[in-house]
Formats: sequence, structure tokens, C-alpha cells
Amino acid sequence: MSSRISLTRYLVEKQRMDGHIPSQLRLLLEVVARACKSISQAVNKGALGGVLGTAGSENVQGEVQKKLDIIANEVLIEANEWGGHLAAMASEEMDSIYVVPNRYPQGEYLLLFDPLDGSSNIDINGSIGTIFSVLKKPEAQTGVEEKDFLQPGNKQVAAGYCIYGAQTTLVLTVGDGVAMFTLDREQGSFFLIEEDVRIPADTKEFAINMSNMRHWDAPVKRYIDECLQGQEGPLGKDFNTRWIASMVGDVHRILCRGGIFLYPWDKREPEKAGKLRLMYEANPMSWLVEQAGGASTNGKQRILDIVPGKLHERVSVILGSKNEVERATSYHSGL
Ligand code: AHG
Ligand code: MN
Ligand code: MN
Repeated sequence: MSSRISLTRYLVEKQRMDGHIPSQLRLLLEVVARACKSISQAVNKGALGGVLGTAGSENVQGEVQKKLDIIANEVLIEANEWGGHLAAMASEEMDSIYVVPNRYPQGEYLLLFDPLDGSSNIDINGSIGTIFSVLKKPEAQTGVEEKDFLQPGNKQVAAGYCIYGAQTTLVLTVGDGVAMFTLDREQGSFFLIEEDVRIPADTKEFAINMSNMRHWDAPVKRYIDECLQGQEGPLGKDFNTRWIASMVGDVHRILCRGGIFLYPWDKREPEKAGKLRLMYEANPMSWLVEQAGGASTNGKQRILDIVPGKLHERVSVILGSKNEVERATSYHSGL
């Protein structure tokens, strides 16, 4: 008999022992995992399944949508709308919120997702993923509106991502550490591979899109310049660079072995706070990183404390190994 712990068993035991996963949240997480399994199948088929290439449309943020952006979005909606655990969903790929249709019961949770992260990697067989965040609908209220979603990341009740890479791995937090589950394709189930994931406080690896250097602000330039000076510079160590162009891929590496990831504000689009989306990307990833002992800021404040002004709000991101994130953040206040 196998001693492996399936995601289902992990969630059932967590609900039973700690009592802090209500049954509706457990159902929600199982449904999200099932949707990710289905997206993973589509990703795996690639050209053979006709899923590569662009869809010929743009999303609300003016980005060209890939076929898989749309497929993944539909899979997540269809999987989650009928179970009775959700009130509404919001996605990077949809203009406004998706309220659970009247023909289904309405639950108390709100689900937010970036259905397919790292879209530029789809056609090159690179790592991509799905990122999700779960909030609770404000109490004592009937119906659901967009403003119900505008809660800071510190109000999340669950968050995670599924990486479609060399393996398909689901990474999850419900607020008591980070656990990882890898998909066993023969059995069709996720199995626990690591519990209590920890990010080392120090690192010699940084991730940033260097081609944007000339557009950065002085504090980011200063920090990366010091990394590049290596052993001879003020940081006194030689750094290595990694950039996967999928936040899921970069955050996964950081959860596995540490590192610092930056996607800062830059002068290309000065009116936007950054490229990454606060509610679909930065919040869930920041909570995972903090739960693993790392840190996450926008240079000025903890990302999880930002109160969103709108659904598709963007944010500047510095996350990963605590000591390096604190150093890069301190440069923003002129320390
Ligand atoms: P998405 O594919 O959901 O639009 O997200 C892509 C994001 C993020 O995953 C990644 O870190 C970053 O954009 C890559 O940006 P560059 O193309 O500037 O490298
Ligand atoms: Mn993304
Ligand atoms: Mn996306």
C-alpha cells in the first residue's frame, strides 16, 4: 500500500485536525486543483491539441490573448460555477467580475485567478502556470459586487499556483505554511511532495528583466548594480541571474532554493504602478512567499497591506529571500 498523501487526504485531514478549512473551502480547493489538472492536459498536448498560438483578441489590459489564456479561463469558470462554494470570480482575462449564475446556489467565497501566467512561454514549451487567490465575501450582504473583491491580500483565506513545467506541481497555502503536490498522471491525482516549504533568508540569485534597466528608478538600478559588482561590491558576493518570464516559474524556483524577484515600476508606462497585477499575481504569490519565511514589498510597503482601488490594479513587486528583499526595499526610502 502506498504511503503517499493525496491532496484530497491532505485537505480532509487539515479540515479534521485543525478545523480551519471549512468544508466549502476544501471543496473549492479540490475543484481548482481539478481545473488545473485539466489545463495541464491541454498544455501537454500542445500543437497536437491545437492549443498553441494567439486567439486574435485582446484582454481588458490591452494584451493579446493566447488560445490557452482563454481555454484556461473557461476551464476555471466551468469547473467552479456550479459547486455552490462561490459567489463570484474575477480573472485577469475578463473585464469585470463573473457572478455565479442564478441557476446555481451561491456560496460565500470569491475566487480570483491569472488563468495562464507566462503566456509568452506557451509556444516555446517553457514553464507556465495558473495563479489563484481566495477571499471571503464581506458578511451580512446579499448579492455580490466588484467592490467586494477590493480587499487587501492579508484577507486571503487560501492562495496558490499550479506550475506546468517538467512536472505539474500545485503549491498551496491556507495560512499555516506552504505545501507542494505533484501530479501523478497515471493516477490522475496530486500527491504531497513537501510540507512546510522554507525560503532561505540569504541568496545569491536575482531575477529581473535586465532589458528594462534603462527605464528603472534609481533605487532598483542601485540594487541591481550592487548585485552585478559581485564579490568586489558592497554586497560582497557573486550573484547569478535567472529570468523565466513567468512569475510562476520564478516564484517556484525561489520557494525551492531562494532568490529575489523584481518586477519594478518603470518609465515605459509611468502612469501604471507596475506590470504585474496586484490581485491575480502579486497578492497570492506574496502570501505564499511570506508563509515560507520570505518577504514581499512594492519598495515602499508590504504588498499584502495594499488596499486595492480597482480590480485590475497593477503593482511593483520585490519578493523572495528576506534579507535581500529588505535591502532592496530600504534603498527606496533612501536608507
Ligand atoms: P501573463 O502571461 O499572465 O500576462 O504574465 C506575465 C508576467 C509574469 O508572469 C512575468 O514575470 C512577466 O510578465 C514577464 O514579463 P517580461 O515579458 O517583461 O519579461
Ligand atoms: Mn501573469
Ligand atoms: Mn495571464
